[in-house]
Amino acid sequence: MSQNMDSGRGIETLRWRDGALEMIDQRVLPARFEYLRYASAAEVAEGIRAMVVRGAPAIGCAAAYGVALQALRLRQASREAFAMGLEEGFGLLAASRPTAVNLFWALARMRGVWESNRHRSAQDVADLLLAEAHEISAEDVRINRALGAHGAALLADGARVLTHCNAGALATAGHGTALGVIRSAVQSGKHISVIADETRPFLQGARLTAWEMVQEKIPVTLITDNMAGHLMSRGEVDAVVVGTDRVAANGDVANKIGTYMVAVLAQRHGIPFYVACPLSTIDLTVTDGAVIPIEERSPDEVTGFRDCQWAATGVLVRNPAFDVTPAELVTALITEKGVVKRPDREGIARLFRC
Ligand code: MRU
Repeated sequence: MSQNMDSGRGIETLRWRDGALEMIDQRVLPARFEYLRYASAAEVAEGIRAMVVRGAPAIGCAAAYGVALQALRLRQASREAFAMGLEEGFGLLAASRPTAVNLFWALARMRGVWESNRHRSAQDVADLLLAEAHEISAEDVRINRALGAHGAALLADGARVLTHCNAGALATAGHGTALGVIRSAVQSGKHISVIADETRPFLQGARLTAWEMVQEKIPVTLITDNMAGHLMSRGEVDAVVVGTDRVAANGDVANKIGTYMVAVLAQRHGIPFYVACPLSTIDLTVTDGAVIPIEERSPDEVTGFRDCQWAATGVLVRNPAFDVTPAELVTALITEKGVVKRPDREGIARLFRC
């Protein structure tokens, strides 16, 4: 086992240490493996915005800890100051990134604890909020293991699985969603190899997915995003498994920019296109993918990387961080409650009834 893994628990994307939140700095992986410490909602919101932590479920977990930290900081304050400071924390965290619904789901859950315990002391509320943040993280790992087991059954022994972005342990509290399916399949004794799209412009595939798979000795081949069609046309891809940031009520799926392109290619070549996510990523208030908010990020991410700029200064740039894959291109949605084949309104609604 690598030194980057906590014994038995795998990669610890977020951890609670000595009264503060620590998160792996995903901006500098794999060159450096280091934790940064966070002590307030404002700091956590900035960590989410800057993508120290990223991936829908991990963002939700971080936001929950952000609320707890805010409460702990204010536990000696007057009732009014505590309530005002907590609201400020909720606001900062909600404004950090717009697309992953898990952020808003986690904040709503934390708000529920706050609302139903307003009559208690600030110290008690802070303790309850911290307990809820711990529970959201622990639950996330359990859910990923459950959905991983459902998804693993869909992969044949020997399957070559293409994935886009990073929907692994680093994108969650542990195990991962898309990579959780792959991990579970490997743990069940199947021989799985991974093809990782590098995932321009932030390189989550090249930097994070490749690193995660190498850590666990799961065979992984890195390709640039524009190689996926070629490999599919040569019969070198058996399945695609990706994560998602938000699923609309009709089954449309928002995920990292480039996912839509992969889904179209997969359909062209008759390759199953699977999407793995917890129920907390499904947003029943959004009727279809067209109304999912799509984050636009800085042009710098497209004109270069870190200190290296390769595009002409002054060029116009678009940088939508996500795209929407229509439900009709999704072979199945893999969740902790089971697999929904050809997801549509009815199939998705059924998940919430069982
Ligand atoms: O911009 P990111 O890195 O936060 O985008 C992450 C993704 O698109 C993931 O595929 C998605 O959040 C699912 S993570 C289990």
